[in-house]
Amino acid sequence: MRPLGTAVDPHHPRFVNAASRLAGQVEQLHELAALARLGGPEEARAKHVQRGKLLPRQRVESVLDLGTPFLELSPLAAHGMYGGEVPGAGCITGIGTVRGRLVTIIANDATVNGGTYHPVSVTKSLRAQEIAERNRLPCLFMVDSGGAFLPLQSEMFADREHGGRMFYNQARMSSKGIPQIALVMGSCTAGGAYVPAMSDEVVIVREQGTIFLAGPPLVLAATGERVSAEELGGGDVHARVSGVADHLAEDDSHALELARGIVENLPPAGRPLWERKKPVEPAHSPSELHGILGEAAPDPREVLARLLDASLLEPLETAGAPEVAAGFARLVGHPVAVAAAFGALGTAGARLVARLVELAGERRLPVVFLAAAGEAGEAGRVEAMAALMDRVARLSSPLVSVIAGPTAGAAHVALSARSLGARFVFAWPTAAISATGMGVGPENGPIDPLHATARIFDDGLVDPATTREVLGLALEATRRSDYRGRNP
Ligand code: COA
Repeated sequence: MRPLGTAVDPHHPRFVNAASRLAGQVEQLHELAALARLGGPEEARAKHVQRGKLLPRQRVESVLDLGTPFLELSPLAAHGMYGGEVPGAGCITGIGTVRGRLVTIIANDATVNGGTYHPVSVTKSLRAQEIAERNRLPCLFMVDSGGAFLPLQSEMFADREHGGRMFYNQARMSSKGIPQIALVMGSCTAGGAYVPAMSDEVVIVREQGTIFLAGPPLVLAATGERVSAEELGGGDVHARVSGVADHLAEDDSHALELARGIVENLPPAGRPLWERKKPVEPAHSPSELHGILGEAAPDPREVLARLLDASLLEPLETAGAPEVAAGFARLVGHPVAVAAAFGALGTAGARLVARLVELAGERRLPVVFLAAAGEAGEAGRVEAMAALMDRVARLSSPLVSVIAGPTAGAAHVALSARSLGARFVFAWPTAAISATGMGVGPENGPIDPLHATARIFDDGLVDPATTREVLGLALEATRRSDYRGRNP
C-alpha cells in the first residue's frame, strides 16, 4: 500500500473560502434534517404523547442497543413536496443494531397525517425493503398508520412498484428466511393491516394497536352497527381470537422489549463475506474535504487521502486517466476496491474502473465509488462506457456509491450505479445530476441534490466530513449478505 500525499495548503485563502462555502451548505442540510426529524405539527405530537405513545424516533432509539449508531435512510424524503407538510415522507427507515444483530427498521410517523402513505412514503419503504432483502437484514416494522393518503391513492396503488409491492417483498423475504417482525403500535387500517398480517411474528399493544380493513365509522355507515376500535380489531381480538398477533404488549416500551427478545432468538446471521480489521483514521483530516470539493477540479487522490484508512491505497495504473484514482484499500476496516472519478470520464478512465470492478468481483471484495464525473467526447468511449456498465451490472459483490459532485449521462449511470444495482447510494451536497452527455450546468437543467434526495434517487445526503462513518456502516450492513448470483 502506498501513502496518498497531499499538495493542499489548508491555510490558503482560496481553500479557506471554499471550505466555508461548503460548510454553509452542510449547515443548511443539518437544519433541514433537524426540522424533518421533528415529524408532524406540535399539536399532532402532543396528541400522540397524550395517548401514552412514544414518538416514532423514541421508539427507534429504545429498540436499538444503547450507544449504537442508526444509519438513517432518506431523512429528507418528500422535502419540498406535498406543500412541505409530509416531513420524512411520514416514516423513518434505517439500519441499526438490536441485541447485536443488524436489522432494517421501517416505522410510521403517526404525527404526520395519521402516518398515512404518500407516494414517496411508498418509494421510501420499498427502498428500505430492497436494502433489507439484498443484504439479508431482518425487517422490524413499527406500524402506526391510516394506510393510503386517500387524495393521492391514484399515484401509489395500482402499479407494480406501488403499495402492494410491500406485501410481495415481505412474502419473498419470509420465504428466503429473512425475518419479518411487526409491532402494531397504533392504527393498521386497510392496506396497512397486511403489513402485520404478512409478517412472521407480530406484537400488538393492548388498547392502542388496531388492525382492521375498515374502521368503526365505515362499519357504522355500511351496517349501522356501532363498534369500538378495540372491539373491532384491538389487541385482544388479534392476540386471542384472529391469531394475527403472537404477543400482546402492555405499552410501547413493553412491545419494544418484546421485539428485542424476538430478534435475539432469530437464527444467526450469515457468515461475514470478508474480514474486517481495526479501522485506522486517515492521515489527512476528512474535514478538509469541504475545501477540496470547493476547487473547480478536485483531485481524486486528495479526496481518497481523506477517506481511506491511514490514507493508504494500492493503486491501479492510471496513465491516461488523470480524472480517476482507483485501487485497493481499507475503509473503516473493510477491504475495498475503490474508485474516485472527478472530471470528464474518458475512455482510459472507464476501462480502468471496469478493470477494478472485474478484479473486485473475482476477489469478492466490496466496491466503493466516489463519482463527480461527466462525459468526455472521445473515440471508443461508448464501447468503454458500455463495458463499464456491463461489469457493474454483473458485479455480485456489494457496491456502495457516493455522488460526490456533478455527474452526467452514462458516467452517472455507471458510477452512481443507482439503476445498476448499488446496495447503497449516498450523495454530497455538491452533487448534481444531468442526463446530458457533455457536461453539467444550469443550462442543461441538472437535478439538484435536494430534489433528488426528496424523491429517493439516493439513500440520503451526507456531510463529506462524516462520510467515512456512513460508508463504514453501509459496508457492515452488506457484509453478511449471501454471495450468490448477480444484482437483480
Ligand atoms: N387519507 C387522508 N388523510 C388522512 C387519512 C387517510 N387515509 N387518515 C388520516 N388522515 C388525516 C386526517 O384527515 C387528519 O388530517 P387533519 O390533521 O388535516 O385534520 C390527519 O390525517 C390526522 O388524522 P386524525 O384522525 O385527526 O388522527 P388520529 O390520530 O385521531 O387518527 C387514524 C388517525 C389514521 C386512526 C384515523 O385518521 C383514521 O382512521 N383514518 C382513516 C383511515 C382509513 O380509512 N384509511 C383507508 C386507507 S386505504
